Amino acid sequence: MKISILGIGYVGLVTGVALSEVGHTVTCIDCDLEKINQLNRGISTIYEPGVPELLIKNMNQGRLYFTCDIREGLADNEIVYIAVGTPENNDGSANLQYVEQAARDIGANISRDTIIVTKSTVPIGTNARIKALINEHLVNRCTIEVVSNPEFLREGSALYDAFHADRIIIGAESEAAAEIVENINKPFKTTIFKTDLLSSELIKYASNAFLATKISYINEISNICELIGANVEDVSVGMGLDQRINSQFLKAGIGYGGSCFPKDIKALVHMTNSLNYQFELLESVMNVNCSRQQILLNKVKRRIGNLNKKKIALLGLAFKPNTDDMREAPSIMIAEILVAEGAVVTAYDPVAKENAEGVISRLVNYSDSVIEALTGADAALILTEWDEFKSLDLRILNEHMNEGILFDGRNCFSLEQADAANIEYHSIGRKSVIQDPVLS
Ligand code: UDX
Repeated sequence: MKISILGIGYVGLVTGVALSEVGHTVTCIDCDLEKINQLNRGISTIYEPGVPELLIKNMNQGRLYFTCDIREGLADNEIVYIAVGTPENNDGSANLQYVEQAARDIGANISRDTIIVTKSTVPIGTNARIKALINEHLVNRCTIEVVSNPEFLREGSALYDAFHADRIIIGAESEAAAEIVENINKPFKTTIFKTDLLSSELIKYASNAFLATKISYINEISNICELIGANVEDVSVGMGLDQRINSQFLKAGIGYGGSCFPKDIKALVHMTNSLNYQFELLESVMNVNCSRQQILLNKVKRRIGNLNKKKIALLGLAFKPNTDDMREAPSIMIAEILVAEGAVVTAYDPVAKENAEGVISRLVNYSDSVIEALTGADAALILTEWDEFKSLDLRILNEHMNEGILFDGRNCFSLEQADAANIEYHSIGRKSVIQDPVLS
């Protein structure tokens, strides 16, 4: 099929690469000329494993194009995806300005019957609004149908998720439109579930909110583990062996960040409030998540005392591993508070430094390696569970730090590993490992 995609941010580019990889001819349209020029030079505009390689491959095979010209980009294609961003408004609602502009642009530039596929995460009822807006701006007589096809990619594993999705959701007004989008997705060889527009829109929000609920749930359980001396890692394993619970998204830590969970949960709460329904559970999920960074900082303050002039090393800044994305990263608040308390903060992240410099206090120093960050530090905090950190020989802490004291916000190590390395180790939902000076 010949497909156009409007909005080449994270979802748009991954979707374009994936669709062209399975044989479709895809024209990606974005108003950002610099972004389009970079992509036309075969350079990815996002940090995402696998995207650079497939980008060049499919461009070379003539299946993937990029343009700023919307009329050229739509070029009579009968399928148009909307993948523009839906950022958060100050009141927590989803900002639909880009979606609405895309709808107006499509209406003004199509000249044949077209199916509009909404990839963007949009509030309940938005697909109907998209259809109305397109029809209001049509300059040529043609029929349009909208189909909701929400995205479930995770940053850092987006292409894997695209080719190993558990399901593809299609919400449509007509069986004919649903079947066309179903045929587009058949090459992904996964379960395709068809439903109506509203249910499809809600599946996206409800799924993200549930995953975030699992995270806040295990984070609350980790608080209880600390009160009774249990081990949240073992509790998580024991729970996750029950297929009804499943082991995924049961990792305790310093909370969820990213461009989706925080935004989508606020949007869902805002949507339900407008229906005079109070989504109490999600209010709690958000409150628990907001407390996570302070919980780690309290551990640091209890152990280190006055942070003024203390050298603190931060290992990891991105909101999760395998991405350079700093949106809603827990590291932002932690770094700000440490700096505010007078600590001398040095941070290292394998890829997120450039993005971090734009959102974290300019008083934070940056290192180019773990060792450089640890050198002379009074304490180290792990904030992102990069493989590079999980494979560290913990003995280097005693070699390079003033004192080998590690606060692990992502439980990268077992208590046994910490004890064997003879370091002082504080983590989430587990007992601390304190070295006995007599024995060490
Ligand atoms: C999420 C959804 O997983 C994805 O389906 C949707 O399309 C977009 O939002 P993403 O935000 O990219 O994907 O990453 P994800 O792997 O879900 O992690 C989100 C946050 O939760 C990260 O900050 C991560 O550190 C945190 N997390 C995840 C936990 O704290 N514990 C876990 O067990 C899992």
